[in-house]
Amino acid sequence: MSRNAWFETVAEAQRRAKKRLPSPVYGALIAGSEKGVTLDDNIAAYSELGFAPRIADHHAQRDLSTSVMGIDIAMPVIISPTGVQAVHPQGEVAVARAAANRGTIMGLSSFASKAVEDVVAANANTLFQVYWSGERDEMVHRLERAKAAGAKGLIATLDWSFSHGRDWGSPQIPEKLTLGAAINFAPHALPRIPWLWSFAKTFRIPDLKAPNLKPKAGGEPPTFFGAYGEWMGTPPPSWDDVKWLRDQWDGPFMLKGVGRIDDAKRAIDIGATTISVSNHGGNNLDTIPAPIRMLPGIAEAVGDQIEIVLDGGVRRGSDVVKAVALGARAVMIGRAYLWGLAANGQAGVENVLDVMRNGIDSALLGLGRGSLGELSRDDIYVPEGFEKIR
Ligand SMILES: Cc1cc2nc3c(=O)[nH]c(=O)nc-3n(C[C@H](O)[C@H](O)[C@H](O)COP(=O)(O)O)c2cc1C
Repeated sequence: MSRNAWFETVAEAQRRAKKRLPSPVYGALIAGSEKGVTLDDNIAAYSELGFAPRIADHHAQRDLSTSVMGIDIAMPVIISPTGVQAVHPQGEVAVARAAANRGTIMGLSSFASKAVEDVVAANANTLFQVYWSGERDEMVHRLERAKAAGAKGLIATLDWSFSHGRDWGSPQIPEKLTLGAAINFAPHALPRIPWLWSFAKTFRIPDLKAPNLKPKAGGEPPTFFGAYGEWMGTPPPSWDDVKWLRDQWDGPFMLKGVGRIDDAKRAIDIGATTISVSNHGGNNLDTIPAPIRMLPGIAEAVGDQIEIVLDGGVRRGSDVVKAVALGARAVMIGRAYLWGLAANGQAGVENVLDVMRNGIDSALLGLGRGSLGELSRDDIYVPEGFEKIR
């Protein structure tokens, strides 16, 4: 870790990531869709919620521990699966190690750049994430491989609509660094010497492959773009298909992307363990409300029947406490740890988790709460019209 590498907020990690990464890579992490209304609301919504503090009877020590999908964790923040691709040479392995060192769960995308075996070796508490993509025997093969590697749970992400347009333009990322692509990419990469050097040291250039989607018959894994093409070409699943997928996994199962009470109820019907109230970090349909607006209604309707987590827009410990007070068991973070990874590798992800932990602890202290279980809606000012319920 270099001097002054520590950052005190996720916003600072993001500034450093922006400085370090080639602009198309940074742009790929910003992502978002259409006008970016959801992207912005995911973060802005937290600012509309206020805390109702207490001034005495504070707890000298606060207990931040909880569990998600039957796994005990040190704090209510887990790693959401992202195709980390090219942010850092150690990619998901560095993220998994950081999560293990801070006592929490690693969510691994099937589009990730590192093999599930290597990631589970770095963090025994790994959840493997899949999309509805490809033939059924290939899907089963991926699940069997993840199970054999030791993944403890499955995340099925269903909220995606292949909405590719962005008013601010999409980044151009080469599929392979061929000579021609490298020349085109050079104007972005050359001013980013530390990022280039981090790959050069490993004698590898980022190759955008998805090793966890290696076909059953063997051979080379698809490229990221090949994998995306397969997903796009797969007819979307019915609830019967989703039930079939759930039945292929013997263990805890999360449905990610829930934004309605009726879908949350269907998740219970098919035997899901957990749902994530989510809009894919603002990358799905634009103008879906922020998950924190959808959470209270969903929690009220089904919170006693299924475990609920939330992801989208979480950048501070206080955001986490607001989500827990409004009915989430824990949150998943996406860009927050990607900024940390880009800024300072594994130590940067640990730094982000420490920022979260400190923020959660401060909020519990100020609210006069000794543990997460004591948090309630009474701790939060929720303005009229804040909630979105369907
Ligand atoms: C660059 C990027 C890649 C992502 N890739 C995946 C993925 O492969 N699988 C998945 O389930 N979600 C993916 N997501 C969504 C995240 O898991 C999560 O829902 C989202 O990032 C949460 O919002 P936040 O970034 O504001 O924390 C991705 C998000 C980003 C930003």
